[in-house]
Amino acid sequence: MLDISEDGRTWVLSGPASSYAVHVTDRDELLHLHWGARIGLADAEALAVRPLPDYWPFESPLDGREEYPVEGGPRFARPALSVRTGERRGTEWTYEGHDAEDGELRLRFRDGDLAVTLHYRMRSSTDVVERWVTLDNHGPAVEVLRADSATWTLPDRDTWRLSQLHGRWGAESRLERSALTHGEKVIGSRRGHTGHQHLPWVALDTDATEERGEVYGCALGWSGSWRIAVAQLPDARVQITGGAGYDDSGLLMLGTGESYTTPVFAGLWTDGGYGGASRAWHAYQRAYVIPGADQDRPVLFNSWEATEFDISEEQQRALAERAAAMGVELFVVDDGWFGTRTSDRAGLGDWTPNPDRFPGGLKPLAEHVHGLGMQFGIWVEPEMVNPDSDLYRAHPDWVQYQPGRKRTEFRNQLVLNLARVDVQEYLWEQLDGLLSSAPIDYVKWDFNRCFTDAGWPDDPYPQRLWVDHVRALYALLDRLRAAHPGVAFESCSGGGGRIDLGVLGRTDQVWTSDNTDPLDRLAIQHGFSQIHPARVMAAWVTDSPNAMLNQRASSLRFRFVSAMAGVLGVGGDLTKWTERELAEARDWVELYKEIRPVVQRGELHRLRPPEGGLSAVQYVLGDESVVLAWLQAQRYGEPVPALRLRGLDPSASYECLKTGEVHRGAVLLHHGLRVGLRGDLDATVVRLKRK
Ligand code: GLA
Repeated sequence: MLDISEDGRTWVLSGPASSYAVHVTDRDELLHLHWGARIGLADAEALAVRPLPDYWPFESPLDGREEYPVEGGPRFARPALSVRTGERRGTEWTYEGHDAEDGELRLRFRDGDLAVTLHYRMRSSTDVVERWVTLDNHGPAVEVLRADSATWTLPDRDTWRLSQLHGRWGAESRLERSALTHGEKVIGSRRGHTGHQHLPWVALDTDATEERGEVYGCALGWSGSWRIAVAQLPDARVQITGGAGYDDSGLLMLGTGESYTTPVFAGLWTDGGYGGASRAWHAYQRAYVIPGADQDRPVLFNSWEATEFDISEEQQRALAERAAAMGVELFVVDDGWFGTRTSDRAGLGDWTPNPDRFPGGLKPLAEHVHGLGMQFGIWVEPEMVNPDSDLYRAHPDWVQYQPGRKRTEFRNQLVLNLARVDVQEYLWEQLDGLLSSAPIDYVKWDFNRCFTDAGWPDDPYPQRLWVDHVRALYALLDRLRAAHPGVAFESCSGGGGRIDLGVLGRTDQVWTSDNTDPLDRLAIQHGFSQIHPARVMAAWVTDSPNAMLNQRASSLRFRFVSAMAGVLGVGGDLTKWTERELAEARDWVELYKEIRPVVQRGELHRLRPPEGGLSAVQYVLGDESVVLAWLQAQRYGEPVPALRLRGLDPSASYECLKTGEVHRGAVLLHHGLRVGLRGDLDATVVRLKRK
């Protein structure tokens, strides 16, 4: 809902529980008025006439109060927009007017030949505000050093706490909370992809808990380098500025008639605590970001941990037969099926099946897999090339490189320059051809190294490569999805190195982490769930002891219940599993299919965080609820505490579908559900249905 004042200079966007208000002064300053609980237009107008603070000359009254601080003029805060032309640097805009259409508000400003439009969108069923900016250049070339998507302003409060998700390979999305102090906290990626180091999300609160309190959150939809700066200004005002690009060394050059649209930076206010914030983010992504989120994701098998590079058609058939017998619905052949890819030293770039390994191409295996009643998927890493490949031998200039410098290799590979049109066309032809060559239903799209030598010798403004790579990736994914609407895509980057609202708009699920240890995963999943829903969070059951990470041994039960918190997959070497293990796995897969709608589409309540001995999550969908609980280690023979459930009706009764026991809602909410976990690494699933 959008309310506009009579003079057309104050706007209030409202969602079910919150409002967002801005105002243009008669000096054409765009001021932030309100973000928080719902207010009306009269409240916003009262805020608009409150005088700005009267500072001594060493502070600016605009700092901490503007919606989109530009470089130049009476400002010392971090500019969201920094541009220069041959003659001028910075921006001095005049307000041109506004447009409002379908819940989207556009505020139009102009500085000479450069039009700057701020976009706001709040859709009816969500409190998420989407913000982005477009620049349209009608004059001589403008260099855009920095164009953030938005600056978010928080209300005056005494102290703020910052939540973020940090990590590295094998240890992504771990939640960290710290007190915000004066100055700036900057997170981001200067690696060309979203990065394992931080998810592009922050949350700020003063005294929230899991169940209650005000929480502000911001999440960026961009899969390249990015930066979010959280600043506590001298007067304790907090602003959060974020967008594409890590630094201010130049984003792109806008020629005459050219435009740039920033990625979306989404913001959410809730007073439902951390849990309420997560549920609102999940609902928003399921409704407006993730394609086809109302369809549940199938249980998949992935061959990577089972076989790594040593693959053959016969061996994949054997795995597929065992997977099908277990109830798996989608069989994915990982790395090693193409070119001369028998190790990570060769073959990336040559997207044709290895004739020694797949003499008839992928079709016979795909058909066999379909014959077993499963969908068929493959792994690709299209943005990369091994120097030992036909592609690189033919086009050594198609990679990112700096002339006269060494080409830095990670995992024996270089990054293709996707900003080049010829590279874009090559990838389109290869991938379109591949998807047409065999009945392929699923593509795991990987990205296994960061940018280092992001140069483009023939281009007058090589800096644009950073942004153009991501745009080309998005365009390629969009084109492939349109041409092959039945194919689903998974975003992977050495595990969770490319997870953000941008890639989630064009992929069906993400590979959360290469760490498949079921205990480590609980913390990774806990962090992931702060922002993204279970519907996209792929999790595999692999072999025990965990060969990839830490040799930790765990029961099949613990591994399954850990992976059942997201989109269940299996990734172990099934040819080595005993008949008993295979039979047990079949039962778990069957159970997962029963709880899947509740896990993938339900509301998540984090009952106990993974740091303690006992952790648990609960999903609620309609009359059904599912509790997954994990015990790391029982101490002193103490019984584990009862789990106080959430999201139930206190006046209703709930039946445990396994035991038939009936529980009263009020008892479950106030006194809890007893789960009889024992010993080390124990786990359970409880299904409840309202009677
Ligand atoms: C990355 C992925 C793995 C696997 C390998 C294949 O590391 O995260 O899941 O696909 O590449 O080389």
